[in-house]
Amino acid sequence: MAWTKEIPARPVVAVAGATGAVGREFLKVLHDLDFPACEVRALASARSAGKKLEFGGCGDVPAGELVVQEMTPESFEDVDIALFSAGSDVSKAMREAVVAAGAVMIDNSSAFRMDEDVPLVVPEVNPGDVSWHSGVIANPNCSTIQMVAALKPLYDLSRITRVVVSTYQAASGAGAPAMRELYDQTREFLDGKADDELTVKAFQHRIAFNCIPHIDKFLEDDSTKEEWKMVAETKKIMGDDNIKVAATCVRVPVLRCHGESINVEFADEVTVEAARAALEAAPGITVMDDPASNAYPMPGLLAGTDGAYVGRLRRDPSVEHGLAFWNVADQIRKGAALNAVQIAQLLLPQA
Ligand SMILES: NC(=O)c1ccc[n+]([C@@H]2O[C@H](COP(=O)([O-])OP(=O)(O)OC[C@H]3O[C@@H](n4cnc5c(N)ncnc54)[C@H](OP(=O)(O)O)[C@@H]3O)[C@@H](O)[C@H]2O)c1
Repeated sequence: MAWTKEIPARPVVAVAGATGAVGREFLKVLHDLDFPACEVRALASARSAGKKLEFGGCGDVPAGELVVQEMTPESFEDVDIALFSAGSDVSKAMREAVVAAGAVMIDNSSAFRMDEDVPLVVPEVNPGDVSWHSGVIANPNCSTIQMVAALKPLYDLSRITRVVVSTYQAASGAGAPAMRELYDQTREFLDGKADDELTVKAFQHRIAFNCIPHIDKFLEDDSTKEEWKMVAETKKIMGDDNIKVAATCVRVPVLRCHGESINVEFADEVTVEAARAALEAAPGITVMDDPASNAYPMPGLLAGTDGAYVGRLRRDPSVEHGLAFWNVADQIRKGAALNAVQIAQLLLPQA
């Protein structure tokens, strides 16, 4: 059913999962973009009720501390926009209450991304898709967001027929506890603890001084669900079922920012120069590419930044019309919180 309720110019915003890695970033992004909220409600599990979170303020909400409330179906009364990052189960459990309260849920989990009545939106790629939501808009998978943001300006030069991507994904992609595990395990490892004495909870194996080619669960064809998401979500966001995508997703011992090695094959010739000009002109993309001065995007440089960074742009001589490049983005910002708040901005009455 099409959504008819208008979002007011000064909406009430709920942040569901406010104590998590993405939730805390939501609060920073709302402040950074000075989102015109008249109220910001911080929600999390009963474990966090009463906890205080620093908030820089935005709209009519002054800087100060937000007191976390336990999330229940009643939490969404009078809410206009609910930014969700509390995992798929919580999103599924709360969807009905959110929509019944008349709020639009912008969901970071994978619960509804492929549902036919749920737009999957990257504002730089398919902003118009927000228009047909029926109460829920999904934020794509973090690795997919930064990739399609860079693919879109290239696709506009010539149809993309095939993409081969290998990801180098930060520990924080698995949440705040996983980020702590990388810190603590590195310390334990340097203290001389043996592998079987290390605390391994967030990942299947040790992440300190290691790379793990396994993100989310394995599927029947031996790919992982994270890899499947990159394939399926790319087609939905780009609106082209014919793009072939081959993905290999790898967890690396980096705190923040996913890196991606991307090879693109086009229907027609696209020169490196044309691709560079298109990327430089594209919203949300920064080209950082100067081999002579060893300049290229790196996670260690880019934590806390907005948008996606592209470098190492070159011809891929292994196919007729091919380019290769390297792409880095802070996945907690552009891959999650920033993208979702940009979607929320698209919902505001346009002046
Ligand atoms: N991390 C990333 O880079 C990233 C990127 C894109 C999308 N996402 C998605 O965003 C979601 C959250 O990820 P995260 O990395 O922020 O995880 P996280 O750091 O583990 O945070 C989880 C949040 O969910 C809350 N929560 C958990 N169970 C709950 C319950 N039963 N009721 C209410 N709140 C509950 C937690 O509250 P307590 O503190 O009270 O437990 C916490 O605020 C996931 O769906 C994830 O796939 C994450």
